[in-house]
Amino acid sequence: MHNPFSLIGKTILVTGASSGIGRSIAIESSNMGANVILTGRNIERLQETLALLKQGQHQYIASDISNEEDIITLVNLLPELDGCVHSAGVLGLTPIQAITKEKIDEIERVNLHAPILLTKHLIKKKKLTKGASVVFISSAAGVYRVSTANALYAITKNGLDAFMRTAALELAGKQIRFNSVNPAIIETEALCNIPITEEQKKANLEQYPLKRYGKPEEVAYATIYLLSDASAWTTGTEIKLDGGLTLS
Ligand SMILES: NC(=O)c1ccc[n+]([C@@H]2O[C@H](COP(=O)([O-])OP(=O)(O)OC[C@H]3O[C@@H](n4cnc5c(N)ncnc54)[C@H](OP(=O)(O)O)[C@@H]3O)[C@@H](O)[C@H]2O)c1
Repeated sequence: MHNPFSLIGKTILVTGASSGIGRSIAIESSNMGANVILTGRNIERLQETLALLKQGQHQYIASDISNEEDIITLVNLLPELDGCVHSAGVLGLTPIQAITKEKIDEIERVNLHAPILLTKHLIKKKKLTKGASVVFISSAAGVYRVSTANALYAITKNGLDAFMRTAALELAGKQIRFNSVNPAIIETEALCNIPITEEQKKANLEQYPLKRYGKPEEVAYATIYLLSDASAWTTGTEIKLDGGLTLS
């Protein structure tokens, strides 16, 4: 059956594949026929993800991408890729008066420096095929909507989008595409770790016209569109997924 969204025959690297959105992207990509390479630090959780993938030539490579040496080792171990999804990320609610150089470094290393350096080394080592698609999991938070104590996270995601657009222009000649998916709140474990009461959550949900948070697989479906040949003419753009949050 003709399916322009198919990922059959494509090899895709997914960072942050040991949990949440990255895990869902890995699972749904395998459902669409991709061979998936999972990366993250937690080997047990990478193995859990691996066990959830549909049959294919999948593997995991553990890596701490906050460290450039680890990124270089990871890139050296990779085959040629048709796609790369940067989903690894950390949250970091910090009021301005509590910001320190260490806190800035901590969040920037994972959310910003890692995807930039991983992209650089993938290109340098010619690991991205002609026609490859690179997807960054950015955010609606800080990009379309500002909230208190979220300056550091906002800086990383705005920076990531700026990098994405520049990379799209710079690598267009090699037919390599770069895009972002920018979700508002998605129900993942990371969300459970944010200290909010049920009442606060209810009030927050009221701001969403569709009256619910997003699901990890809904981020995966947008990512699959960007990884697939269905989006072959799409580069340098952001897909906002927010249940209508930013309409008003
Ligand atoms: N959940 C949301 O509401 C939401 C909304 C918008 C955007 N996002 C973005 O979506 C992405 C995924 O979020 P999530 O909710 O799925 O979070 P999550 O469940 O906490 O997953 C984060 C992933 O990042 C990996 N990671 C963190 N530090 C790493 C490091 N130093 N080296 C390698 N891997 C590292 C973790 O793997 P290990 O622990 O195995 O290293 C984990 O797989 C993030 O970029 C986040 O900013 C999330």
